[in-house]
Amino acid sequence: MPRKRKQNKNKHATMAQTADRHKLYEQSVQCAEAEIDFVDKTFKRRRKRRAQVLREDFCGTANVCCEWVRRRRQNQAIGIDLDPEVIDWGRQHNLSKLKAHERTRIALLEQDVLLAKTEPVDVVSAMNFSYWLLKDRKTLFEYFCRVRESLNNQGIFFLDAYGGYDSHREIEEEREIDDGGDGFTYTWEQASFDPITHRLICHIHFDLPDGSRMERAFSYDWRLWTLPEVQDLLNNAGFSRVTVYWQGWDKNGEADGKFKPATHADADAGWICYLSAEK
Ligand SMILES: C[S@@+](CC[C@H](N)C(=O)[O-])C[C@H]1O[C@@H](n2cnc3c(N)ncnc32)[C@H](O)[C@@H]1O
Repeated sequence: MPRKRKQNKNKHATMAQTADRHKLYEQSVQCAEAEIDFVDKTFKRRRKRRAQVLREDFCGTANVCCEWVRRRRQNQAIGIDLDPEVIDWGRQHNLSKLKAHERTRIALLEQDVLLAKTEPVDVVSAMNFSYWLLKDRKTLFEYFCRVRESLNNQGIFFLDAYGGYDSHREIEEEREIDDGGDGFTYTWEQASFDPITHRLICHIHFDLPDGSRMERAFSYDWRLWTLPEVQDLLNNAGFSRVTVYWQGWDKNGEADGKFKPATHADADAGWICYLSAEK
């Protein structure tokens, strides 16, 4: 008797309906290794010792926390995010892949970064522009003050920013992502920008190999903070030294991925930089 075939419940489902948006995000947006390389090296250069305890604010799937505890046996990480769904995803897909001794060195807190109280840490990291969710000056200032309080005496806060004249435009940028299979297309859409308030609404879309599209897989309602504003607020919050790190150019005229301290830079259509703020 022929075996009854298992019915494929997803027979008519498209790849966009079944793909995991967090996985696509990690493959296309995040580069936890590069972020941690930068944080680790800069801390060592500034403090003449290795950082051990890192707090990742707006941690999402806790990819950076995982990378941090994998680096050295002494490293500990605390991840903070408001959203239980994303934290759960991180536990199931990222923390589950760690060795037991690595996993025990991560604590994930489902909390608001504006209220969270944690042990004094060496590093607070807030990457991929997540602090842009804090849209008014008073709230961003409060957040920077809280970060400063949560650092130990040698602690350093790391964050990033982007800008340039393209950041004021309503545009879409596409990038092909090689995921070791058929690949997919990542689209960054700046859907609206208000020059008076600097409110910036952005979306991420994914186009999958079967032709289906995951529309607005992620959406962001941000304030596009400028670098002078961010530096001023960090200084006002009491940080002793604030540094901007800018990229150079390679021989093909592309950004070289090497971020160095800078106090001036050339006008550019689209730039990304890191900042550090020392307690
Ligand atoms: C763009 S994701 C950042 C993910 C990851 N950190 C990265 O670098 O790609 C922003 C995250 O911030 C979280 N979030 C938003 N407001 C928050 C708040 N006030 N406190 C803690 N987490 C917050 C959201 O749930 C979301 O997971």
